Amino acid sequence: TYVVTDACIRCKYTDCVEVCPVDCFYEGENMLVINPSECIDCGVCEPECPAEAILPDTEPDLEKWLEVNTKYSAEWPNITERKDPPEDADEMQNEEGKFDKFFS
Ligand code: SF4
Ligand code: F3S
Repeated sequence: TYVVTDACIRCKYTDCVEVCPVDCFYEGENMLVINPSECIDCGVCEPECPAEAILPDTEPDLEKWLEVNTKYSAEWPNITERKDPPEDADEMQNEEGKFDKFFS
């Protein structure tokens, strides 16, 4: 599966949702997540994200993000249409430690 990681937090460009063939993105207040049991591993979304937030879970050290994506995709609503990102999305790309600061 692919997972959404820290870089999405407060950026939420939502380009990813437009290309997913199985519509498996879910939206929280500050980030999106993928439902790992719905993702078909096509990889199409990875290059679409301007923040490079989407990674295959075969990359090292992504256990935390697999858990976050699994847990919250079961709770948050599905999102299938692109919408405008937050006004400060570009500045937030350089922010460090976004999960601890902004995830709720
Ligand atoms: Fe959707 Fe493919 Fe991305 Fe999985 S890898 S979330 S199926 S676009
Ligand atoms: Fe987030 Fe990137 Fe999608 S910032 S909303 S994963 S395009």
